[in-house]
Amino acid sequence: MFRAIQSCLSGHPWVDRITLLESVDSTNTYAKKLASQGAPHGAVVLADRQTGGRGRLGRSFSSPAGLGVYCSVILRYDMMPERLMMLTPVMAEAARRAVVSATGLQPAIKWINDLVLDGRKLCGILTELGAGFVVVGIGINCNQQTEDFPPELQEVAISLSQSLGKAVDRAAVTAELIRQVQLAADGFLDAPSRWMADYARHCLTIGKDVQLIRGDTIRYAHVDGMDENGALLVTLTDGTKETVFTGEVSVRGLYGYL
Ligand code: BTN
Repeated sequence: MFRAIQSCLSGHPWVDRITLLESVDSTNTYAKKLASQGAPHGAVVLADRQTGGRGRLGRSFSSPAGLGVYCSVILRYDMMPERLMMLTPVMAEAARRAVVSATGLQPAIKWINDLVLDGRKLCGILTELGAGFVVVGIGINCNQQTEDFPPELQEVAISLSQSLGKAVDRAAVTAELIRQVQLAADGFLDAPSRWMADYARHCLTIGKDVQLIRGDTIRYAHVDGMDENGALLVTLTDGTKETVFTGEVSVRGLYGYL
């Protein structure tokens, strides 16, 4: 797998910064450790499986051996943390492009950090800030079949191979993901609004009626649009307008995940 990824990325500026682990609790946790020890911008941690894959809001990310792409990238920027808020949507657009180019499938984006295919979750992104670095963790379901997902995900998750009807080459998907993340990581600095416009074009949450879930509280709202940092602009059922940041809120469709 390592050789195959390296050969797909031959000549790429990040090719010598890749660590491939057989098993780890979470590539994000591992990458944060490397970053705090001085690992450079563009250092990549991959694992064949994660025993404690993490998602947003304390959720877990199912990461069985040999079936998904589990990837974390260390990025170092000299900019205000507010601007870094844009990174999660920008990386969702990068992951979407990687799937399109590696498989021809056309996933959409569910705000803020999920890729969806056929109404089910294909990919999740977890961005974590450290002192002087950001770790962007991306998990893509590649070759799972229904029984490979935990029972509670079998109705809401999907893999590339389920959608394509054949196995996918995980090394090729991984290499394309690294390529697109590098283009996004370096490119969004010059043209942030172009990246955000591309994200918004593929984000199916915009224009929908949704539930805003914060802890035990559920409120209903219409999503009018997105601001330049990726926050959602919503109108609540009582007519109040609000800006929803990524932090604590989970956004669901009225009748379920979408
Ligand atoms: C989510 O669904 O809320 C985000 C899931 C992010 C999963 C990826 S897999 C690689 C990296 N390591 C982790 O522990 N999480 C991210």
